[in-house]
Amino acid sequence: MLKKFNHVAIAVNDLEKAASIYKNALNAKVSNIKDYKEHGVSVVFVELENCKIELMKPLGNSSPISKFLEKNKDGGIHHICIEVSDIIKTRDTLLTKGFKILGDGNPKIGAHNKPVLFLHPKEFNGTLIELEQE
Ligand code: CO
Repeated sequence: MLKKFNHVAIAVNDLEKAASIYKNALNAKVSNIKDYKEHGVSVVFVELENCKIELMKPLGNSSPISKFLEKNKDGGIHHICIEVSDIIKTRDTLLTKGFKILGDGNPKIGAHNKPVLFLHPKEFNGTLIELEQE
């Protein structure tokens, strides 16, 4: 059911600065900034050999990250993403076992053009979990 680790997402206040640190101080492969209006975020991908770090800043007024940055003034780890072999089957199994799926419960297309779902941090040890179709 769970497959590869895909990425860790870090909320940041200044995306250009954060990207520059990874690029210039750590010599990492860093993408250009991409806007995802549906998710309310602007994102830079830091490409590692085995996974990615996504640096995200709020986009628009109702961004889900704005509240997070109010509580975490310096930014911080926002969620982790794990790939699953069958996202609908995984969702249905979780619902059957009484877990919550955030939003309307239907997968949205995520930053990698694949369906994603988010699980409630209260039910996963205080960690927001993104599941992505592998
Ligand atoms: Co993500």
